[in-house]
Amino acid sequence: MVEKVEKIWMDGQMVDWDQANVHILTHTIHYGLGAFEGIRAYKRADGSTCIFRLQEHIDRLFDSCKLILMQPEFTREQLMAACCDVLRINKMDQGYLRPMIYVGDGAMGIYAPDNAHRSTVIAWKWGAYLGEEALKNGIRAKISSFGRHHINVSLAKAKMMGQYTNSVLAKREAKLGGYDEAVMLDTNGYVSEGTGENIFLVKNGVITTPDLSCSILAGITRDTLITLAREEGIAVHEGRVTRDQLWLADEVFFTGTAAEVTPVREVDNRSIGTGTVGPITKRLQARYFDIVRGSDASHPEWLAKV
Ligand SMILES: Cc1ncc(COP(=O)(O)O)c(C=O)c1O
Repeated sequence: MVEKVEKIWMDGQMVDWDQANVHILTHTIHYGLGAFEGIRAYKRADGSTCIFRLQEHIDRLFDSCKLILMQPEFTREQLMAACCDVLRINKMDQGYLRPMIYVGDGAMGIYAPDNAHRSTVIAWKWGAYLGEEALKNGIRAKISSFGRHHINVSLAKAKMMGQYTNSVLAKREAKLGGYDEAVMLDTNGYVSEGTGENIFLVKNGVITTPDLSCSILAGITRDTLITLAREEGIAVHEGRVTRDQLWLADEVFFTGTAAEVTPVREVDNRSIGTGTVGPITKRLQARYFDIVRGSDASHPEWLAKV
């Protein structure tokens, strides 16, 4: 259960948590069109609070809107300010931010071109998405029986709401089967991503991850990890990945704003490498946390101070 905070930003106003409601005819609830983001703010070693890669998340929100023909009524600057304000007003020194652009009520039916495109930014407290144990010792994943949307069935580059029914089905299937997370294949059978994470494998010291022409979200943590890996002198290859390449990998890990850098110790009941967290995953995970939490100052351009 999400722990209640005081205020939610809705269309330019700070609204009490309990009053932050929408009408049941809100178009997005019926048809799923809308764009959202998931962003983390971290408390740093020096006591400050920084939002990680805020500009890139808001840029992706606007890209998602462009892809689905939505026009936010607020500028990028206003939405970035709202992210900072909602943390400040709730006296949160860290947490998760959820900006959303959604189609309001008015007309019903699929088209409804004149309904307002409404904006909100919600903040809540969120620890490790898959649990502290997952970050430390890795998770068990299962290839899903649900395929990722074909690139012409939906828009993988849009972080849009309705698309996530596919993720929820895969996640539920994996959890009910006793696993922690699902790995989704695309309609050609290649590995795409997790239900809310990008995926990487390590083989013989080289990292491989599905390239951006695959049916994947262009993850901001994915981009962060590729940058960090290259800085560490580790080769990164973006290209197609098959299920058996995953099974035979030395290491596998997921990345995402919520999941951060989560090692995968098993896929489809096959141990990955030695079945423990591998050295490259460990190194990159440590670097990621050092950067977001402040003991590594090498990427100030990724931090927005609150
Ligand atoms: C389907 C999907 N893939 C990948 C990611 C990882 O993206 P990011 O690192 O930008 O959070 C997410 C989370 O936003 C996601 O929902």
